[in-house]
Amino acid sequence: MKIHTTNQKNTMVTDVLTKGIVIFGATGDLCKRKLIPALHKLWEKNLLPESFVITGASRRDPGRESWIASLGEYPEEFTHHLDYNSCDLDDPDSLIHLPETQDTTYFLSVPPERYENAITSLKKSKLLDDPERSRVVIEKPFGHDLESAHHLQSVVERHLREKQVYRIDHYLGKDTVNNILATRFGNILLEPLWNREYIEEVQIFATETIGCEGRSQYYEGAGVVRDMLQNHMLQVLSLVAMEAPCRMNATEIRREKTKVLAATRLGKKFITGQYTGYREEKGVGPESMTQTFVAGDMYVDNWRWQGVPFYFMTGKKMPYQCVEVVIKLKAPPVGLFRGETPGRIVMRLQPHAHLDIQIDVKSPGMSEEVELATLTHRYPDWLGVDGYEKLLFDAINADQSHFVHSEEVTESWRIVDDLLCTGEYCPVRTAPYLYSEGIWGPIHKTKFITDWDYPA
Ligand code: BG6
Repeated sequence: MKIHTTNQKNTMVTDVLTKGIVIFGATGDLCKRKLIPALHKLWEKNLLPESFVITGASRRDPGRESWIASLGEYPEEFTHHLDYNSCDLDDPDSLIHLPETQDTTYFLSVPPERYENAITSLKKSKLLDDPERSRVVIEKPFGHDLESAHHLQSVVERHLREKQVYRIDHYLGKDTVNNILATRFGNILLEPLWNREYIEEVQIFATETIGCEGRSQYYEGAGVVRDMLQNHMLQVLSLVAMEAPCRMNATEIRREKTKVLAATRLGKKFITGQYTGYREEKGVGPESMTQTFVAGDMYVDNWRWQGVPFYFMTGKKMPYQCVEVVIKLKAPPVGLFRGETPGRIVMRLQPHAHLDIQIDVKSPGMSEEVELATLTHRYPDWLGVDGYEKLLFDAINADQSHFVHSEEVTESWRIVDDLLCTGEYCPVRTAPYLYSEGIWGPIHKTKFITDWDYPA
């Protein structure tokens, strides 16, 4: 497509690249609930490329009009960018009818067991030949364990360059998660404290009040370690623990995250759990051993963090829905005041994100006691950007900073590997303890891990 631009001296004709996104699995839930709304928001903000085509693709053939109608209410000016194509990712020949765009992002919103065929077919149909102008977005989970992740990676490497692969962890699209790096490295205040000299322990929570919400078919095969720990929680840990990148670009950020994950290992204190109503959920067997809760400790064996426990807790049907990082500082070397409590830095990532710095101040009045005061910055909810909006924008613009590198994936699977064992020869106990809904997991076991600062 050509457009005319005018500057003061002359009129020139510029080639405008027609960019496209093809969403495979377009009749599925993710497309309707997250992807199209995110693309619509980008369109409203004028952030989509000037010439842009969104193509829904799947084996079913509802036809363009009824596919668009199934997505919900959108203005005609937006739906006019939408197209539909019925094709089969297992059949490379069927892909040749996809609309031709000069720069295309292929989004695999299909079950993970189809990734291998999908990538192979896309390659065979020559849609990925230009590494500068074609890329594939792959939803989590990337693999099922260390071995399968290695296998999928070998398929990816056979057909694609790493710069074409966009592995999604939607936590990396969250503004507040990205704020961890801004808060740490945009200031000099925290960084001198951010190490084993001053930090006693770190606690990372990702707790949910919901259960598996009709997703038992997926959840039965996944469980909490694959669903939350291997990806979202380890990504948060890596941002909390990594060294400052020398530049804020994809290569450098991912290099530092990989290094810190490579130094991370599971400790010895983990406990898994299952909420009591789980086995009654539709699609779950009466003897299911699927874990819906895990808590434990990890260590980052490097100079900065040696010996500092990183405790984590994540689970479903808990009292509070929250993602939070609590940094517990060491006590001052000499306790001079009554009532001293070691300081804490709390990063609440969601909901209602805020940063709290908690320090002792003198209690007002005659006494020499101190009390904890909280300095709070609230991150404005209404300005935040949805994860998928950010990630789609970045993928379309070929920025991998907020996507996961293959080495990060490999390291993450290595870290949780012992927890994925099933059967009697597991190196650790992975059989879940039952816990009632609405409490912090099997508390009679987790209280021995640490003194948890439960979110409130
Ligand atoms: C998904 C998991 O990746 O993350 C879900 O599959 C979980 O089980 C969800 O509920 C949590 O995401 P968020 O953005 O609500 O914290």
